[in-house]
Amino acid sequence: MTPKEPLTPVITIDGPSGAGKGTLSRLVASRLGYHLLDSGALYRLTALAAMNERVDIDDPEAVAKIARHLNVAFEADGTETRVLLKDRDVSREIRTEAVSMNASKVAAYSPVREALLQRQRDFRKEPGLVADGRDMGTTVFPDARVKIFLTASPEARAERRYLQLLEKGEKVDVEALAEDIRRRDQQDSERSVSPLKPAEDAHCLDSTDLSIDEVLEQILKTVNA
Ligand code: DC
Repeated sequence: MTPKEPLTPVITIDGPSGAGKGTLSRLVASRLGYHLLDSGALYRLTALAAMNERVDIDDPEAVAKIARHLNVAFEADGTETRVLLKDRDVSREIRTEAVSMNASKVAAYSPVREALLQRQRDFRKEPGLVADGRDMGTTVFPDARVKIFLTASPEARAERRYLQLLEKGEKVDVEALAEDIRRRDQQDSERSVSPLKPAEDAHCLDSTDLSIDEVLEQILKTVNA
């Protein structure tokens, strides 16, 4: 009898926004030669598509229909990933504060989460996947080989986001950003479906006082252990 093939390995990196998941997931994927899933982008794309099509953002079923029929593509662009909605590059648009707030709102709808579940699992391909999100280790890939839960203080996260936006030429109030982050954290952690919380078998890492390289090293150490 041939032994059962082990499933394609998955490393999940969950945590609140601004903890550094995006950057770290990209770096880990690149070091290991793995594929990358930015699951937050799917919620952002759902919100943007609903806004573009003037669908009532307060109607879970109507938004779920949008999620089911999302026409999206992710294209590698050097070290970045280009995000396309109906063949249009929306990489910047999905990161605006308006889309962020609506993404957090639609992510609380259980029909939307169901609509996106299989789409996320389809990213699991050889030689492996790094999945970045909120419920990667708890709901989408409960059998992941390594689960990381990355956090940082709300102040540190607001500061990082502020610097990111400044780099892109956008000026925002750091206090208002911190408030937005707190509100979104609350929305993401208190929702009844797939709330933001570490999986029981997750390795929790606080990146507040660590550099990106230090966090990367710790994650790779956990992966290799
Ligand atoms: O990671 P992000 O900031 O791009 O995510 C956008 C929104 O989607 C955020 O409010 C949390 C939500 N989200 C989620 O509920 N589940 C995921 N797996 C990923 C993101």
